[in-house]
Amino acid sequence: MKMLQRYKDGDRINHWMVALLFILAGLSGLAFFHPAFYFLTGLFGGGPWTRILHPFLGVAMFLMFVGMFLRFWRRNIWKARDSEWARRSPALLKGHEGEMPPVGKYNAGQKGIFWLFSVCLVLLLVTGIMFWQPWFADSFPILLRRIAVVVHALSAVCLILGAIVHIYAAIWVKGSVRAMTRGTVSEAWARQHHPLWHDEVTGGKR
Ligand code: HEM
Ligand code: HEM
Repeated sequence: MKMLQRYKDGDRINHWMVALLFILAGLSGLAFFHPAFYFLTGLFGGGPWTRILHPFLGVAMFLMFVGMFLRFWRRNIWKARDSEWARRSPALLKGHEGEMPPVGKYNAGQKGIFWLFSVCLVLLLVTGIMFWQPWFADSFPILLRRIAVVVHALSAVCLILGAIVHIYAAIWVKGSVRAMTRGTVSEAWARQHHPLWHDEVTGGKR
């Protein structure tokens, strides 16, 4: 079977660092979200350690994501054909992929998730710093800190929901996960799901 290169080694290492840090930052943050999740502190050495580690894990995730952002933002720029794809997406959910407009490296759903991740991470960083005791929180007025806590929690919820959709889609579209594990996809996968990208990397040869 002919395979096409979709991600370089560096892209994949970067992606899995972000995914690992997402799980660590997410679990340590959720531990403080509601008492029902407090048991998660057991994973990080107890309450005080979880509280100390969470912001550093969050900042590490943000920095790693900046690396991914620089690698992928150009490919996620919204084009006119993406609006058309998004309008017709109910057909895709019914399983009629053949009725969808041709897709480049990423479809409109993937692009939307990419920008959702980017906005959420900026909001998490900015708001997280505003109530990061004992380092920065004292520099911000109390009202601002209260708003920051709510925005931080809402952004975390959006990021986690986005990640669930992202992971579900990666598994649902068979043959996608290997793009991020081995770096390659089959030519048939590319032709079916990303025909314009297929033509670009093969020089249009089918
Ligand atoms: C980007 C850098 C980040 C910083 C500086 C940061 C900082 C903080 C701080 C200081 C707290 C307060 C803990 C407390 O005293 O109760 C917190 C809570 C929390 N963080 Fe982060 N965080 C960051 C990223 C993240 C990320 C990436 C996630 C999710 C994947 C996340 C999810 C949460 C959640 C769910 C809470 C609990 C919010 C609440 O109780 O209202 N944080 N964060
Ligand atoms: C832990 C489970 C995860 C799995 C199984 C997974 C799987 C994948 C796969 C298979 C791709 C390639 C899709 C394609 O080339 O069409 C991909 C791309 C990507 N993933 Fe993940 N991922 C996970 C977590 C995350 C997390 C937590 C983030 C960030 C918050 C993330 C951000 C990205 C980005 C930015 C891309 C490039 C797609 C684009 O730029 O639109 N992934 N992922």
